[in-house]
Amino acid sequence: MKKLTLIACAVGLAVHQLIEHEAIKLVERTISIKDLPADLEGFRIAHISDLHGKRFGNRNIRLAKIIDSCDPDVLCMTGDMVNGTKDDGSALTELLMNLRGKYPRLYVSGNHENRSIWLSEKANRDRLSEDLEMYGTEILDGRSYCIEGLPICFHGMKDSRDKHLKLHEVMGPKRDGAQNIALIHRPSRFEAAAKAGYDLILSGHIHGGVVRIPFAGGLLSPDKVLFPRYDKGIFHDFGSALCITSGLGNTRVYPKLMNRPEVVLIRLVSGEAK
Ligand SMILES: [Fe+2]
Repeated sequence: MKKLTLIACAVGLAVHQLIEHEAIKLVERTISIKDLPADLEGFRIAHISDLHGKRFGNRNIRLAKIIDSCDPDVLCMTGDMVNGTKDDGSALTELLMNLRGKYPRLYVSGNHENRSIWLSEKANRDRLSEDLEMYGTEILDGRSYCIEGLPICFHGMKDSRDKHLKLHEVMGPKRDGAQNIALIHRPSRFEAAAKAGYDLILSGHIHGGVVRIPFAGGLLSPDKVLFPRYDKGIFHDFGSALCITSGLGNTRVYPKLMNRPEVVLIRLVSGEAK
C-alpha cells in the first residue's frame, strides 16, 4: 500500500511538472524611478531570461506571441538563453525568428553560454552571433545600446564569475542625462552596479530560487545558496532597482517547482521607489 502511494505521488508530481513547465505566466511589474524623464513615462521593457534551450510550442511560436502581445518598447534577454549541454542555440534563434514586433532586441550571455560545449567551437559561436544579428538582436556583451530619440541606454556585460572585476572595465560607458539600465546575468552584481550609478539592473540566473515555498520565497540558487535574498521580483536597494526574473527554462540539475516560466513586462513610472 505504501509503495502504491509513493508511486501515485511520483506520477502526480511528474504530471504536475510537465504541465507547470509549459504554463507561461505574463507578469506585469511597475518600477518607480525618481525624476524619470517625462518622455519615458510608461516605457515598456519585456524581460526574459534563462530559456535554457527550451521550446514553447512549435519553434517557440507560443512564446514569441506572448512577448509580441506585450507591445514592448524593447526586449531584454539576460543570459542562459542557450543551455550548456546538448543545445545548438536553435530554440533561441527560432524564438527571435518568430517575433513579429519591430522593437529592439538586446541580449547578454550567461554562465551557460560560457560553458556551452556547442559554443566552445568558434564556428558555432560565429554562427549564433550571425543568427542573432540577422534577427535584429544587439549582443551587449561589453557594449551599450541607446534608443534613438529617447534618454534611455542599455549596457551589458559578458557573464563572468570573477568577483573582483570592475564594471566600468567590462560594460559600455553610462550616458549622462539618460536612464542607464544594466543587463547583468547574475544579481550578485546588483550592489556594485547600483553603486556605479545604474538606475535599474535586469538579471536572471537564480531561477526564482528553483522551488517556491509559500510565504518564504525561493529555496535554493544554482550557486547553492539557501533562500537567496534576490530570488524573483523587484528590489529597491543601494539607491537603485533590480528586476530579477525566474526565467523560462530549466536545467536538468535544478528543475523548478511551484515556479512557472515567466515573461516579465516592466513599466517605468516616475515616483519614489516603493
Ligand atoms: Fe545562469
